[in-house]
Amino acid sequence: MEVPRRPEMFDFHGVSMINIITDNWDNVQNFKARPDDILIATYPKAGTTWISYILDLLYFENMDPDRQTSIPLHERVAFLEISVPSQPSGTDLADKLPTTPRLIKTHLPVQFVPKSFWEQRCRVVYVARNAKDNAVSYFHFERMNGGMPEPGDWSTFLQGFMAGKKVFGSWYDHVNGWWEKKQTYSNFHYMFYEDLIEDYEKEIDRLCSFLGLSPSVEEKERVRASVTFDSMKQNKMTNYSTVPVMNQEVSPFMRKGKVGDWKNHFTVAQNEQFDEDYKKKMKNPDLKFRCEI
Ligand code: A3P
Repeated sequence: MEVPRRPEMFDFHGVSMINIITDNWDNVQNFKARPDDILIATYPKAGTTWISYILDLLYFENMDPDRQTSIPLHERVAFLEISVPSQPSGTDLADKLPTTPRLIKTHLPVQFVPKSFWEQRCRVVYVARNAKDNAVSYFHFERMNGGMPEPGDWSTFLQGFMAGKKVFGSWYDHVNGWWEKKQTYSNFHYMFYEDLIEDYEKEIDRLCSFLGLSPSVEEKERVRASVTFDSMKQNKMTNYSTVPVMNQEVSPFMRKGKVGDWKNHFTVAQNEQFDEDYKKKMKNPDLKFRCEI
């Protein structure tokens, strides 16, 4: 059997992209958001699936119980910009979501977000993850996902990451761009993966307060139990085992779920070069990341 070729990246309005992200561009840009939509925004591998499942449970845990066991999470939370041949596009899926609010996820840099989300004053939840762990996670994801460009070896991947030449562009531009948006757009909750790992309860309380939700203690406990790394790794609806293009034997989608795994990948020299470059790119003193907790 012929092995499908990995896609090539190309420059798209200054951001590295692949076809499955740009093929449906006009429909993405003309997407009609509704005022109660919730936009989940992240750079890839920052904890999108985790926050998506948390939101899905906070809103819909009490609905039809079959929903949780029979519909993969990626069909409950629409991935706005994706368009893979022979599958419904993200915009089609979003249009058909039966639930309110609709949960819609995007990895787009902020300047590419369809304007209707801003016009409708939709709530936005952004999750950011420290660059080093984010890079490591992205490397293993490219290894296991045949729909992504070939990552090369770790050293090659890391150079590409630092140069901003990854699908969805530069991590540095992404986290900064969305951070700047938060300064002018009030319906915005900016979260950090590391905070969620360190103090889950506190972060969920803050999230619920932003969303205007007040789950009971029992509900919160049920959600908590479902969204642990181990539960999500076992759960076929959240571990992406239903997606054939991902080879979980190369690297599982639910890989480690830790802060600080970068230490097992970066050499001392890579770390020094990374830190030096980081200082030049991350000048905003208000936006601070933790590479360990
Ligand atoms: P690692 O590769 O470091 O393990 P995304 O959903 O944006 O693709 O991000 C995937 C990353 O989030 C993976 O990181 C994955 O393990 C981690 N993750 C997913 N669910 C998690 C959970 N419940 N707790 C902690 N980390 C989680």
